[in-house]
Amino acid sequence: MSLRIIVVLAVLTGVAGSPGVTIRPEADSANMTAHPNSVPEVLEATEIFGQEVPVEEEAEEDVMATGELNPNHYPARRAAKVVQHYLNTRYGSPFRLFGLHNVHSGNAEDVADSGRKYQLEISVQEIISNTTEKCSAEVLFPREQQRSPQVQALCEELLKINTKAQEEALFLKYKMNQSLLSAQNLPDSYGHIEPDNKPLWHLGIVASSFVMLNESTENTLYNMAQVANITQLATESEQLKFDCHTLLHEMVSQEIVHWKLLFTWSPPEGVKVLQMEQLPHCHDCEKPPNTN
Ligand SMILES: *[C@@H]1O[C@H](CO)[C@@H](O)[C@H](O)[C@H]1NC(C)=O
Ligand SMILES: *[C@@H]1O[C@H](CO)[C@@H](O)[C@H](O)[C@H]1NC(C)=O
Ligand SMILES: *[C@@H]1O[C@H](CO)[C@@H](O)[C@H](O)[C@H]1NC(C)=O
Ligand SMILES: *[C@@H]1O[C@H](CO)[C@@H](O)[C@H](O)[C@H]1NC(C)=O
Ligand SMILES: *[C@@H]1O[C@H](CO)[C@@H](O)[C@H](O)[C@H]1NC(C)=O
Repeated sequence: MSLRIIVVLAVLTGVAGSPGVTIRPEADSANMTAHPNSVPEVLEATEIFGQEVPVEEEAEEDVMATGELNPNHYPARRAAKVVQHYLNTRYGSPFRLFGLHNVHSGNAEDVADSGRKYQLEISVQEIISNTTEKCSAEVLFPREQQRSPQVQALCEELLKINTKAQEEALFLKYKMNQSLLSAQNLPDSYGHIEPDNKPLWHLGIVASSFVMLNESTENTLYNMAQVANITQLATESEQLKFDCHTLLHEMVSQEIVHWKLLFTWSPPEGVKVLQMEQLPHCHDCEKPPNTN
């Protein structure tokens, strides 16, 4: 018990005494257009290696933070990140991508029988147009671990950004091409993406948000790491179809998880994930098959 108090004191002192490790989401997210994936990594790494680690250690599974939350600490940020994934699944497109910009306030409460509810005031950024809006959101983490979080969010201004013409032009471009598209390593290890591949990268992020939303709990923080490869599949329907191998970074466990996704996209229907399958860790999957 006394050890825990010391840890808490250490944390409080650390917060007051080290302004150098405070999070600066503005500066970070300003760079998201250039390298959308590298930015959250930097941001969250600050949290991991900065002041908040002792808070994590101190927290116990059955003693989740309740009541008013520190907007810079993990519990509020993890719930807020789920809102980002939710918005991408509902409204994301090759020309519309949402990112968590800032958490202003948060409140958590136990809801009898159903789970834990977070009420949040956050700033959400539409990354491609660089538009930011303050939104109210609610995230319910169901008590049964198998069920994905339920989210409500109101970001009216961001949804008014009209990307219809760009989407239809891209859709036609992809549809008319004789050969099926494919791309690997978005971004590559230098953080670079060919401009022609950016729409595929954005589609991969939106599809991955379905996994990140579904897999999120109060104890996870998912970020997009890389689209390892994405391949367009032949289809008769009015949807484009893609097979995608994606790498997600779970910041709390510091694990990179691999998922294989099958999804469709069309401007009127948006992105729809048909199948998602978690793959074994990479040291398993890199072994060539059928050899000893
Ligand atoms: C954006 O990234 C570049 C390097 O990629 C860096 O020089 C610049 O300072 C960054 N800008 C901000 C606002 O973080
Ligand atoms: C995004 O918008 C903000 C504020 O409007 C501005 O300060 C920033 O430079 C913009 N970032 C980029 C990458 O254009
Ligand atoms: C979400 O994950 C659960 C297991 O955690 C799974 O049963 C469910 O099918 C997933 N949802 C989707 C849309 O794949
Ligand atoms: C169409 O396919 C060719 C061959 O794969 C490729 O070089 C070209 O960039 C594609 N065109 C478009 C518009 O994507
Ligand atoms: C996609 O990337 C993964 C991970 O790097 C790799 O294991 C897999 O073989 C690749 N698939 C294709 C079709 O290139």
